[in-house]
Amino acid sequence: MSSMKEMINEHIHSSAHLSKKHVHPRLMKLFEAGGLASVYDRAEGQYLFTENGDKYLDFLGGGGVFMLGRNHPRVKQALRDVLDLEIPNLCVTNASILGGLLAEKLLNVAGPENYSKVFFANSGTESTDMTIRFARFLTRRRRFLYLEGAFHGRTYAAISMCGMPQLRDGMEPLMPICTPIKANDINMLRRELKAGDVAGFIFEPVQGMTLEVLDPGYLREAEILCKQYGTLMISDEVQAGLCRTGPFFGSVGAGVRPSMITVSKILSGGQVPVAAVLMTEEVYQALFQKFKSGPIYFSTFAENNLAMAAAIATVDELVEIDAPARVEVLSKLLKDGLEKIKSNYDVIDRVVGKGLMLGVYFKDSNNLALALQQRLMMSADQGAFGAAVNVDMQVKHRILTQIPGPNLNALKILPPVITTEEDVQYFLEAFEDTIASYYTVQSSPIRSISRGFVNQTLKNVKGALPAGILSSFMPKPASDDDGKKNTRMS
Ligand SMILES: Cc1ncc(COP(=O)(O)O)c(C=O)c1O
Repeated sequence: MSSMKEMINEHIHSSAHLSKKHVHPRLMKLFEAGGLASVYDRAEGQYLFTENGDKYLDFLGGGGVFMLGRNHPRVKQALRDVLDLEIPNLCVTNASILGGLLAEKLLNVAGPENYSKVFFANSGTESTDMTIRFARFLTRRRRFLYLEGAFHGRTYAAISMCGMPQLRDGMEPLMPICTPIKANDINMLRRELKAGDVAGFIFEPVQGMTLEVLDPGYLREAEILCKQYGTLMISDEVQAGLCRTGPFFGSVGAGVRPSMITVSKILSGGQVPVAAVLMTEEVYQALFQKFKSGPIYFSTFAENNLAMAAAIATVDELVEIDAPARVEVLSKLLKDGLEKIKSNYDVIDRVVGKGLMLGVYFKDSNNLALALQQRLMMSADQGAFGAAVNVDMQVKHRILTQIPGPNLNALKILPPVITTEEDVQYFLEAFEDTIASYYTVQSSPIRSISRGFVNQTLKNVKGALPAGILSSFMPKPASDDDGKKNTRMS
């Protein structure tokens, strides 16, 4: 029988094929067609390496989990220690040493005067569901308010509060009486809360999809209103928490004290699934006074030793490196650089986000050739231009970025806190090169998208046009020698 090492060595370069066969047939095919299916065989810090030795800068970070970079030595050591010590795991009838330690560390960074209890879960969406269940139970109300453009996960309660209708398609009816409201519109929030029937108001301090930042003034007024009308304020910091936007908790940093805060992604250094819900003493006491029969919350694997140990190491590391301060420095460099590029290219509409959760929205250029391509692409898919930029950043410059959400004409980055000044410079140069290239005849966003994973967009555009027009945007057929312009990452 093969050891794990032997199995990995044997399969690592065909992993994409096995996944294509058994796990993600459609997705892998699209990635391959778009030239985005690089097989990475090593990961270290902010970099991924392919079997050919190509180096990629990872500003996507597994969807925001690798704030400390991949395979962080401290997190790895914590996992090894737990396995080597052979301490008991999941005893159920016994308190978990590591769960208690992690809870204390999380409460310390949140401010022990603010929060006193922590419940653990296995994923972000599970932590959302926990808060929804608690809010219903405590208030005995059924209505929830969520923000347009919000994302809180994909379980039933979470998807019911998803502010992107596309993600709910085909799943209705979902949880009843969940009302979307506009972000940063305090009058709208007040109007809805006044009805006195709202169990919870859930929000992300910085929205993961739209990258809209909630104004601290709005949050502070919202806190007062929620108290006044007996509604629980729930801050979803699954993505925005643990220094991603600067402070350890975005809401606390904005000067508010929501009833519950969820965290997940960054929490275990990307190594083991984990999530946590921090709650105030009032919420905890109310829950346990009302709940008489058995535990109000339990999940088999939630406090497993590996997740707890990885999370302890991660929180300790974030504290020791003073992550909030480093995030501010990197954020300023990135934002200033992006604003400077924006001033030179009219296709950039605005720079958005906060901390290391940043993005750029695009708009129609005044350059006629480029504007025509943009309109053609976007008639088929609102986010097509952003998708082209995303493809070029990866294929030409070996930088992983992402499209923030469906139909959003934008590019998003989630760089790790270990990003260097040199990485920032490399990213900014690559981004400027990508944008500048669309103003030349040599490069075309339509052609880029043709190798991207929204291939269907190109087909739709082709179908809508007189024969031959599209080829004028395609000086030569897409080929493997296209791109890889910048070689510093090799
Ligand atoms: C703000 C927010 N909440 C919840 C979730 C769901 O987390 P998970 O994918 O771990 O269920 C996500 C995931 O991206 C998120 O960004």
